[in-house]
Amino acid sequence: MSDILGYAGKRVVVMGCFSGTGEACARQLVALGAEVHGADIKPSPVDLASFTTVDLRDPASIAAGVAAIGGEIDALFNVSGLPQTFPGEDVVTVNFLGIRHWTQQWLPRIRKGGAIVTVSSLAGMSYLTRQPLVREFMAHSDFAKARQWYTDNAERAGDPYGLSKEAINTWTQMVAPELMQRDIRINCTMPSPIDTPMLDDFRKVAGDAVLGAFARAKGRFSTPLEQALPLILLNSDAARFISGVCLPVDAGLAGGLMTGVLNMQQMIAEATQAV
Ligand SMILES: NC(=O)c1ccc[n+]([C@@H]2O[C@H](COP(=O)([O-])OP(=O)(O)OC[C@H]3O[C@@H](n4cnc5c(N)ncnc54)[C@H](O)[C@@H]3O)[C@@H](O)[C@H]2O)c1
Repeated sequence: MSDILGYAGKRVVVMGCFSGTGEACARQLVALGAEVHGADIKPSPVDLASFTTVDLRDPASIAAGVAAIGGEIDALFNVSGLPQTFPGEDVVTVNFLGIRHWTQQWLPRIRKGGAIVTVSSLAGMSYLTRQPLVREFMAHSDFAKARQWYTDNAERAGDPYGLSKEAINTWTQMVAPELMQRDIRINCTMPSPIDTPMLDDFRKVAGDAVLGAFARAKGRFSTPLEQALPLILLNSDAARFISGVCLPVDAGLAGGLMTGVLNMQQMIAEATQAV
């Protein structure tokens, strides 16, 4: 067995290749021999087959971006995201509405056997317990109406970043069976904190103690490459029977919390003492 990932000669698109995880992902896909087309609101430093400026807050920009790249693709990587230091309406738009619309625009162009992966977050891991609310938000496909829903329900909806990632998890699992009928897979990852430009924003919101607790499992934050490689795995031939999965990429943190082996409050208290 040689090329078990099977990217050589594949045509792929990476949304969010300006920095961090998306940049690492695009770079690695180029090294694996894929024809990599990138999109982002800011230009990518990676040597890509093409780069297209797309603003995920704007449906017209999304449609124009898909048309500009054009043709058929084998794999779609959705990595872009905004932290909650930005206005809540923009956070839910980029992280969920924009990513979902962009993916829907690509669907007719994704080849049989193709795959989609989106970066969610551990911040969305409680999605099943928040279902009625998350589905209420997801029911709006019109960007203006969905943004208005968030404005009207901000208090009940809570952190816009968490809501957007809960919606990504829910959507990924809801559309997986239907897409499998067309031989297309869809998955997402739920990273713990990553050492990227976005980490500074989370530091401002959550503080060092909370972030320190999230880093406890491994004793450090993950690197962009450590988050890019699981995306590449999930969209590869090696994962051909995997769909509808929300995969924690967190060095065991979510498993420890879910089984009660780890206690977040205790970890935050310990990290507070250490700061
Ligand atoms: N950094 C963390 O601690 C962390 C933890 C869990 C999940 N995540 C998720 O990982 C993903 C990648 O983030 P990162 O950590 O690599 O940070 P990053 O800030 O390096 O990357 C975010 C990317 O999104 C792009 N982007 C922002 N607004 C956009 C818009 N309107 N249209 C198109 N693209 C836009 C940025 O230009 C950038 O390339 C995000 O979805 C983020 O929510 C990050």
